[in-house]
Amino acid sequence: MTDRELYERAVEISRRAYPPYSNFYVGAVLQMRDGRVIDGVNVENAAYPLGVCAERSALTTAVTEGYRPGDVEALAVTASPSGGCRQWFHEFRIDRIVYMSGSGELVTTTPAALLPDTFVL
Ligand code: THU
Repeated sequence: MTDRELYERAVEISRRAYPPYSNFYVGAVLQMRDGRVIDGVNVENAAYPLGVCAERSALTTAVTEGYRPGDVEALAVTASPSGGCRQWFHEFRIDRIVYMSGSGELVTTTPAALLPDTFVL
């Protein structure tokens, strides 16, 4: 899939999000190196901090399916990624992150550009 196709799929699946508290629907799509595509949406909770972002929802599904860091080629998301998700992108060594900027431009960037001097354990 092209980066734009990946992003458009993220927009499509964002309808499946569960954001009853913020009403902010987010979709994320992973392009795996083996050709598979994995979806994720944000899932909120009445205990607010327990909600999960769409990107982490997709990455958690990927790990459940047996994937590991290095297996994700690209991630597209319908929001500008949160700080916590940026640290996850670093962990999974994703080549490309695609999202729509505030000015309406499709941006393709890297985890290092989104979170410089990243924490390493
Ligand atoms: N959200 C995401 O799913 N991904 C991000 O990178 C930014 C924020 C979600 C979390 C919450 O459900 C809603 O957007 C409002 O913050």
